[in-house]
Amino acid sequence: MNIIKLKDIFLKFFEEKGHKIIPSAPIIPENDPTCLFNTAGMQPLVPYLKGQPHPEGSRLVDVQKCFRTNDLDSIGDTTHHTFFEMLGNWSLGDYFKKESITWSFELLTKKLNIPVEKLAVTVFKGNKIVPADNESAEIWKSLGISEKRIAFLGEENNWWPNMELLGPCGPDTEIFYWRSEETVPEVFDPEDETWVEIWNNVFMQYNHEENETFTPLKNKNVDTGLGIERVTAILEGYTDNYKSSIWKDVISKIEEISGLEYDNSEYTKSMRIIADHIRAIVIISGDNAGIKPSNTDQGYILRRLIRRMIRYAKKLNIDINSNWEQELAVLIINEYSKYYNELEKNQNDILETLKNEKIKFNRTLEKGLKEFEKVIKNIDGDKINKDIAFRLYDTFGFPIELTEELAKEQGLKVDTEGFKEKFKEHQEKSRAGSEAKFKGGLASTGEMETKYHTATHLLNAALKQVLGSHVHQKGSNITAERMRFDFSHPEKMTDEQKQKAEELVNKYIDMAIPVERMEMKKEEAIALGAEAMFIEKYGEIVSVYKIGDVSLELCGGPHVKNTSELGHFKIKKEESSSAGVRRIKAILE
Ligand code: SER
Repeated sequence: MNIIKLKDIFLKFFEEKGHKIIPSAPIIPENDPTCLFNTAGMQPLVPYLKGQPHPEGSRLVDVQKCFRTNDLDSIGDTTHHTFFEMLGNWSLGDYFKKESITWSFELLTKKLNIPVEKLAVTVFKGNKIVPADNESAEIWKSLGISEKRIAFLGEENNWWPNMELLGPCGPDTEIFYWRSEETVPEVFDPEDETWVEIWNNVFMQYNHEENETFTPLKNKNVDTGLGIERVTAILEGYTDNYKSSIWKDVISKIEEISGLEYDNSEYTKSMRIIADHIRAIVIISGDNAGIKPSNTDQGYILRRLIRRMIRYAKKLNIDINSNWEQELAVLIINEYSKYYNELEKNQNDILETLKNEKIKFNRTLEKGLKEFEKVIKNIDGDKINKDIAFRLYDTFGFPIELTEELAKEQGLKVDTEGFKEKFKEHQEKSRAGSEAKFKGGLASTGEMETKYHTATHLLNAALKQVLGSHVHQKGSNITAERMRFDFSHPEKMTDEQKQKAEELVNKYIDMAIPVERMEMKKEEAIALGAEAMFIEKYGEIVSVYKIGDVSLELCGGPHVKNTSELGHFKIKKEESSSAGVRRIKAILE
C-alpha cells in the first residue's frame, strides 16, 4: 500500500459518504498572525467550524500539508516528522459521533484491512466543561472494540488542540495501532509506546474565548486527522516510518551520497533527520509565499532546518560542497509536485535558496565549530553563558538550538533564557516571532482583527488605483493592534502615492459600502477579475467578498458588514519586504 493508494482510498471512501474533496491549504497560513505554519487540517477551516457556511457544503475531506516545530527534538525517531501529510474528514454541523466513529472503523478494518485485534482507543474522561464520553465508548464497543482496549483519559490527551489555545476545540477519541510483531496485549496501556496513535476524531463543539470561557459553537462539528506517514508504514509492515515507500528513495539517495548504510545504527538517526528536513525545506521554500531563510518567523525555521540538515550531513562525512542537497531536493520536488504543483513552478527558487544558505552557513560553520571547541575548553562550570551563546549566533550564525545541541553532546547546558533576552535587545527592528508562534496556535479572530482584514482588501484596491494593476497581495499579517500588507511593486512609494492610497482607503470607509459574501465557481470568480493570492488553495466553489465596485477578492473571511465600521485608516510605514515586494504597516484609529 503506497501513499497514492492510501490517499485515494481515503478520499474515495468519504466521497462516497457525501463528502466534497477540497484542496490542501498552503503550508504558510494567510491572515493568521498567531501561527507561522498550518499545523493541522482544521486550521484553514476555523471560520467554517465557527459557523460560516462552507461553499462546498457540510461534509469535507482532504489531504492537508502540516508542519509542526514542537516535534523538532523528536525528529530522528521512527514516527515523528516536522512536515507531514494528514488525511481528514469534516462534518460542519452535519453528522456527529456515531457516523464519525463508525466510518473510521469501517475504513480501517474493511478498506485498509487492519485487524480489529490490533486496535485500541482512548476517549475523554470528562472535565468541568463536558462529562465523560461514554457515548463514544459505547459506539466503539458496539463495533467490536473490547472494553479492555478503551482507555478514558483526561484533558492532556483527549482534548484538541489543548486547553490553552483559543478557537474551536473539543474532546476527542484517538485510535491506536499495535505496531509490533509481538502478541497484542489484551489490555490497552496508553503509556506503552508500541501503541501508536494513527487517527484522531475530534468532536469540536466549543469556542475557547478569552478568559477560559468555553462557549458552545453554533454547530457540533467533527474534525479528524490520520497521519499518512505512520499509516503507510503500518500498512507496509514496518515499525520504522523511514523504511516505508514514502521514504525509500530519499534514504537510498542519502546512502548513495554518503556511501554509508541506513541500517548501521551509527548513521540511522542522521539519515532520518536529513530525510525529514530536506522534505520540509522543499515544501516551505516551495510555497508561493516565497519564504527565504532569515532571522525571524518562518524564515528562521527554514534557516534552522537547512543548517541542522547540513550539520547531520557532516556527521555522515558527506562532501558539503558537492551537489548533494540539490539532488535530494529534486527527488522530493519530483515526488510531491504530483500533489502540490507550486513546487514544480518554484523549483529554481527552492534550489537557489538551499544553495545560498548552504554557502552562507558553510562560511561560518567551520570557524564557529572551532570557536565552540575553544569555548568548551575554557568553560567555567557546566553552562555556556548568554554572551558566548549570542556571539555564536551573531558572529557564526549558530541558531541557539544548534548551540544547545552541541552543548548537550558535551554534557553542558546553555543559558538559553539569557540568550533570548540578549537576542530581544538586538532585535528591536526585526522582532522575532514569539515562542507561542513557533509552537503554532490557532487564529483568534476578534473584532479588531476582522476590521483589519477588511482593511487589507481596501488597501489592495487603493494601491491598484494609485500604482497600477501590477499590484497584487503577497502576504499579510494582522494583529489586534495593526496590519502589515505585502504587495508586488518594484520601487519605493513616494510620499504623494502613500498619501493618495491612504486617502482612497478612507474615502471607501466614508462611503459606507456594504461588504457582501458570495459563492461562485472558481472559473467564474477569475473571469470576473477577482483577486486571489493562493489560487491553488481554493476548491471548485469559492467564497468571494465584494465591496461595492471597489474590491472583489477570493477569501475565507471573516469581514465586517460595512466599511463604515473601520474608523480611520493610517499608513505608518512603507518599506521593502523582499525583491520586488513592498510592505505597508498601517493602523485603524
Ligand atoms: N485536528 C486534529 C489533529 O490535528 C484532527 O484533525 O489531530
